[in-house]
Amino acid sequence: MQTAKVLTLDELTSFCIKRGFFFPSGRIYGGLRGFYDYGPLGVELRKEVLDDWWYFFVRRRSDIVGIHGSIITHPRTWEASGHVEAFFDFLVTCLKCGKDYRADHLLEDLGIQLTSVTLETLSSVIKERGIKCPECGGELSNPQPFNLMFTTYVGPKREKADEVYLRPETAQLIFINLKDVYYTAGMKLPFGIAQIGEVFRNEISPRGFLFRLREFTQMEIEYFVNPKRLDDCPMFDEVAEVTIQLLTAEQQERGSDTPLRITLREACEEGYIGCKWHAYWIGESIAWLTRIGLNPERLRVREHVKTELAHYALQTFDVEYYFPFMGWKEIEGISNRSDYDLRRHQEFSGKSMTLEDDGETVIPYVIEPSFGLERILLALITDAYRVVAGRPVLSLHARVAPIKVAVFPIVSKPDFTAKAREVYKLLKERYTAYYEEKGTIGRRYYEADEMGIPLAVTIDGQTLEDDTVTVRFRDTKEQIRISINQLTLTIESILAEWDTRYRGALDLTPPAHEQQLRKP
Ligand code: GAP
Repeated sequence: MQTAKVLTLDELTSFCIKRGFFFPSGRIYGGLRGFYDYGPLGVELRKEVLDDWWYFFVRRRSDIVGIHGSIITHPRTWEASGHVEAFFDFLVTCLKCGKDYRADHLLEDLGIQLTSVTLETLSSVIKERGIKCPECGGELSNPQPFNLMFTTYVGPKREKADEVYLRPETAQLIFINLKDVYYTAGMKLPFGIAQIGEVFRNEISPRGFLFRLREFTQMEIEYFVNPKRLDDCPMFDEVAEVTIQLLTAEQQERGSDTPLRITLREACEEGYIGCKWHAYWIGESIAWLTRIGLNPERLRVREHVKTELAHYALQTFDVEYYFPFMGWKEIEGISNRSDYDLRRHQEFSGKSMTLEDDGETVIPYVIEPSFGLERILLALITDAYRVVAGRPVLSLHARVAPIKVAVFPIVSKPDFTAKAREVYKLLKERYTAYYEEKGTIGRRYYEADEMGIPLAVTIDGQTLEDDTVTVRFRDTKEQIRISINQLTLTIESILAEWDTRYRGALDLTPPAHEQQLRKP
């Protein structure tokens, strides 16, 4: 059962704050735009998602190893990568009130669709349409490129020579450590290096709650492939028959917004995806995003049009999620970065970036799946948020639910609470667990549903007689009775079978109003 009302960003934001998932950073001082802190439920959700990502993309495989790089990196890194020169958005400032705007966002908010975001297009649209400051009606400056990297200083002096950058992506740390990882971990092409970590971008207009932040977390893989073997992907068959919703660059250039429903094999055969390794990483990405619970119907793969491609990219596909309050938005980018970065680091450092492959010396090509954690969390919470009988229920997949099990004595009497605390202690050894004895049992169930807790164990009168408890399922409200000595085993198997037995209870069909909204 789903609400017919369209979920708004305000409703979701206040839900997340009220339930302790996230708090505006520095709230007691009025907040700092673009920064959020994780609360007790958020931090557990974050950990579950990161751990599952690391398991799925690193530990489960034998061709990927991890690193953990520093946030402040040698400044030459960012000259070589092209970020000093080319990592910018366009800023316009009101000449009357001084308010700053990101030019493309300002036009977007006024309902102006741009075919490309270049200095020329932005300047001419602003001039031709006579766009003024939405706050005070003042004249706007010409758009200026604004570099998104944060700078700071290393050492006691505040001089240009000591200026360094906070990393705007984790990827470069992987490139500059490539040779060390290659030798120390004994890797052979093709292989990947993964990293999770905080990145920093001085966004002109942070917005959309967790969507556009100034500090956020990336989970990135740089996957290195011999450039002559981009179609030589031994794992391709594992994903080839996966159907995706694909919006190609060519379709967008024709003005179409209706994605193709196509298998990854067909997308390669038709030439929509440049090589099989790229298609493979699209398939693996979708597999993980749905594994943690995202509704596949709300995921589409959109190719970047030429003018949108980053300076390093040959071809990029964004995995987009359909947010009811802002439409299709990128949660992951998957790029073919060619040998751009490694060649540039070779040139700037004078150190070889070549690897051996069957007697051949190559600078590998790179396929890069790059996930933004906070956008994925926003999508997960949006996807899981339902209103059932007037109350919010957060139907998070049990795999990532911040708390797996709640324990409640049916009444707050000493015999019941003593037994319930015993059960809670037992479960807490293995799972994130929650205990509450105050309030009616109905209210405590509602609270647990809002916190996304998939299972609730209740100690009742019968427990005191025969040592059995009830286990209540958040999404179906079904209850089963089992003996306490079977409890951990039963919970273990319920969590393990969540996909096959329990997830099925949820109706994943997007609600009618959303289908209506999504019509091109
Ligand atoms: N290394 C490639 C790279 O950084 P990107 O598309 O700029 O590519 C990758 O970023 C992901 O990081 C995006 O798909 C998005 O999920 C996340 N991301 C980017 N900018 C963000 C921001 N300002 N706030 C939150 N997440 C962001």
